Amino acid sequence: MTAPAIVATGVSRTYDLDGVSVPALRGVSLTIEPSDYLAIVGTSGSGKSTLMHLLGGLDRPSGGTLLIGGRDVSTLNPAEMAKLRNETIGFVFQSFHLLARTTARDNVALPLVYRGVGRRERRERATAMLERVGLSHRLDHRPNQMSGGEQQRVAIARALVTSPSVLLADEPTGNLDSATGQSVLALLESLNDEGVAVVLVTHDRDVAARAHRQIVMRDGVIV
Ligand SMILES: Nc1ncnc2c1ncn2[C@@H]1O[C@H](COP(=O)(O)OP(=O)(O)OP(=O)(O)O)[C@@H](O)[C@H]1O
Ligand SMILES: [Mg+2]
Repeated sequence: MTAPAIVATGVSRTYDLDGVSVPALRGVSLTIEPSDYLAIVGTSGSGKSTLMHLLGGLDRPSGGTLLIGGRDVSTLNPAEMAKLRNETIGFVFQSFHLLARTTARDNVALPLVYRGVGRRERRERATAMLERVGLSHRLDHRPNQMSGGEQQRVAIARALVTSPSVLLADEPTGNLDSATGQSVLALLESLNDEGVAVVLVTHDRDVAARAHRQIVMRDGVIV
């Protein structure tokens, strides 16, 4: 038996917005196994992105316990969290979060800087990953010189360049035409076959149906 990749137990997240508390997650329990392929679906505002940010160690729960790679995130300082994320998680943001003044290749190479990988190897690995998402002709383009779907694929390449054991993708096909969406899904599925756990958020029933299991969120809980 291998240990679960991520275990959330009774996790909550309340945002404080000008003194008003917004309960975005209200007690979510979820285990991600090392070879999982999980789709998270649910209406807009149901807490999917909030949950993904927690699973990826980008944010901390307001309550409950969260183990990433067996480590309780409440015991980790920000530097330890960043290291755990860099070594374990690939994250594709709903809104890409690419550096605007930076080329596709340097955006993809960035996580490797934090790993201490040398410049030459960074460029090679970033180039190979951009080739894998069909962007070998856009290496030196900046985000504002690329379409939404191209930016999405750069974000996917950046998430994969560190060879994470868990890939968390928030609407990875949301901005792609169906052919490009299919090729991105095929890429995620081949990674999953290689043992990478894949968790994706989607509004697309067909995308969700390809996952090995689905959870549905509503009002901050799994239904
Ligand atoms: N930083 C924030 N401050 C205050 N409230 C927030 C914040 N981020 C999210 N929320 C609220 O938390 C709830 C859950 O938001 P979340 O982004 O997780 O939804 P979602 O399921 O990802 O929706 P969508 O499908 O539209 O992306 C929403 O009611 C949202 O308004
Ligand atoms: Mg969202």
